[in-house]
Amino acid sequence: MTKIAPSILSADFSKLGEEIKNVEKGGADYIHVDVMDGHFVPNITIGLPVVEAIKPVTDLPLDVHLMIENPDEYIPSFAEAGASIITVHQETAKHLHRSIQQIKNHGVKAGVVINPATPAETLLPILEEIDLVLIMTVNPGFGGQSFIENTIRKIEQVAEWRKERDLEFEIEVDGGVNIHTARRCTQAGADVLVAGSAVFNRSNRHEAIREIREAAEE
Ligand code: DX5
Ligand code: ZN
Repeated sequence: MTKIAPSILSADFSKLGEEIKNVEKGGADYIHVDVMDGHFVPNITIGLPVVEAIKPVTDLPLDVHLMIENPDEYIPSFAEAGASIITVHQETAKHLHRSIQQIKNHGVKAGVVINPATPAETLLPILEEIDLVLIMTVNPGFGGQSFIENTIRKIEQVAEWRKERDLEFEIEVDGGVNIHTARRCTQAGADVLVAGSAVFNRSNRHEAIREIREAAEE
């Protein structure tokens, strides 16, 4: 079954705990946490105290998407704060294998994420080492942007490599996922769909999650 990871970036922060419990009840698989530093991306969002605060609220894995420069400096703290998955951008990691090793040494699942303009081939040297590939389908920084169509080819490409090499990492996509774009992502090989505005801009979050999953599996 397709996994849905609601991005709390579009949640109502004044009642974040309730929002998280609500999507958990509505069938979410991961809680996607967008950490932005105002340098790598032009926005500042959630940091360590928020990850610590939401950890006890949910049994779901916290899927922490680091959009920050110098991710190695912060990996231990996010692991201790309760991240279940930590994903670092290929574009920010100076020594990607070292970052991945550091994440794993903390007993956390490790992912690599690439921007829409970063070629999928940059993942080739690391595929054997990781638990998850995250393919950005918008330029990171904000919720509510439109899906960039030519990223689909990259999802297909990564899915092909996974098959050829008999690997088991998950393929996650992030940005502009909704009932119109979900199917193309899963057809291309995505297992996990991040959805921010498509879940939290709806008054009924359960219905939103159900509809995205149905669309993804049509
Ligand atoms: C974008 C973030 C996304 C964002 C997705 O930089 O990484 O996770 O919250 O939002 P939607 O689903 O609204 O495009
Ligand atoms: Zn994200």
